[in-house]
Amino acid sequence: MSLFSSAYSLGLDIGSSALKLVELKETKGGYVVTRCDFQEIPPDSIVDGQIINYQSVSAALEELLKRAKPHTKRVTTSIAGTSVIVKTVNLPMMTQDELEQSITWEAEQYLTVDINEVNLDFQILETRPEENQMSVLLVAAKKDIINDYVSVLSELKYQLVVMDVDCFAVQNIFEFNYPTEPGEMVVLVNIGSHITNVELYREGKPVITRDISIGGNSITDEMQKVLGFSYEEAEEVKKKVSEGEETSDQILGVMKAGVDNLVGEIQRTVDFLMGSVGESDIARIVISGGASKTYGLREELSNAYGKEVEVLDPFKSFQLDTKVVDPALINFLGSAATVAAGLALRRGE
Ligand SMILES: Nc1ncnc2c1ncn2[C@@H]1O[C@H](COP(=O)(O)OP(=O)(O)OP(=O)(O)O)[C@@H](O)[C@H]1O
Ligand SMILES: [Mg+2]
Repeated sequence: MSLFSSAYSLGLDIGSSALKLVELKETKGGYVVTRCDFQEIPPDSIVDGQIINYQSVSAALEELLKRAKPHTKRVTTSIAGTSVIVKTVNLPMMTQDELEQSITWEAEQYLTVDINEVNLDFQILETRPEENQMSVLLVAAKKDIINDYVSVLSELKYQLVVMDVDCFAVQNIFEFNYPTEPGEMVVLVNIGSHITNVELYREGKPVITRDISIGGNSITDEMQKVLGFSYEEAEEVKKKVSEGEETSDQILGVMKAGVDNLVGEIQRTVDFLMGSVGESDIARIVISGGASKTYGLREELSNAYGKEVEVLDPFKSFQLDTKVVDPALINFLGSAATVAAGLALRRGE
């Protein structure tokens, strides 16, 4: 443990519709949630991971941090979508050190990015000495996006200590909360407002991942277009209906069309990924993210695959410090806090 390590770890999910924050304290009896909060940000402030309206993101972050007052100023956050490329590649066997030396060269062979514009990271997933091959996870994150996140945090006197990837944060909290059987293929689908992270996961490792540019806001868009609602009205109606409020058949019809379209995109991606790794048996499908709560979505996905779809509860194995954390808020956020909780588990030391 370093001098600066503390029992607290802070996960901040910079989503394009809302910032989500989860702070955990590691105790002998397990993890305790010591902070949990969120702050909506104005639409279009973050587009494709890029902070377009720096002022409004900074103001929202300041409000969130001032209200939440986390114990630590060391933040773990993440990126997704077009801001990052995640790819599993086969390389000849080499040591960790050798790979560190040659990572730029290897990445240039496999990734269609300007290597000078990204930060590279890697993880050796599996070695197959008999074939002299190993499979390696390459991660290339756009430097300009990372720099924006570093500066918006440092202006508020917070320090970005770990930059993760959304799908790995989802994987992290899933692993922590839900034991899996050897060999079983789990499909993790984290549905946000503009991005959906899809990961095929087996035996503690990502098999393949892909982010698609669609999320719950596609349903909001549809409601605005067809029903003439403003963005705020459409969001409100969508959430109320999803929470069980009765509504007209017309509104239900438009929402259903939006859900059909979103589920169709998810299904196409899952099928494509399964096909590309030569697999056909899905053991479990687990959904998360704010839009996983959309009325009819879980059922629709479940019908598409003819199997039960589980909803990830990121707080399943945590205790709550109920003096400071409101159980009603935890309940309200629910699966929308998946990435933030997964990030808080990854301690930046
Ligand atoms: N109760 C609810 N019912 C239906 N939809 C909801 C509910 N709560 C949130 N959503 C939808 O979930 C989405 C936001 O989810 P989330 O917070 O996971 O996204 P984000 O992290 O901000 O976005 P992204 O990761 O795409 O940048 C929005 O489309 C929102 O309308
Ligand atoms: Mg998100």
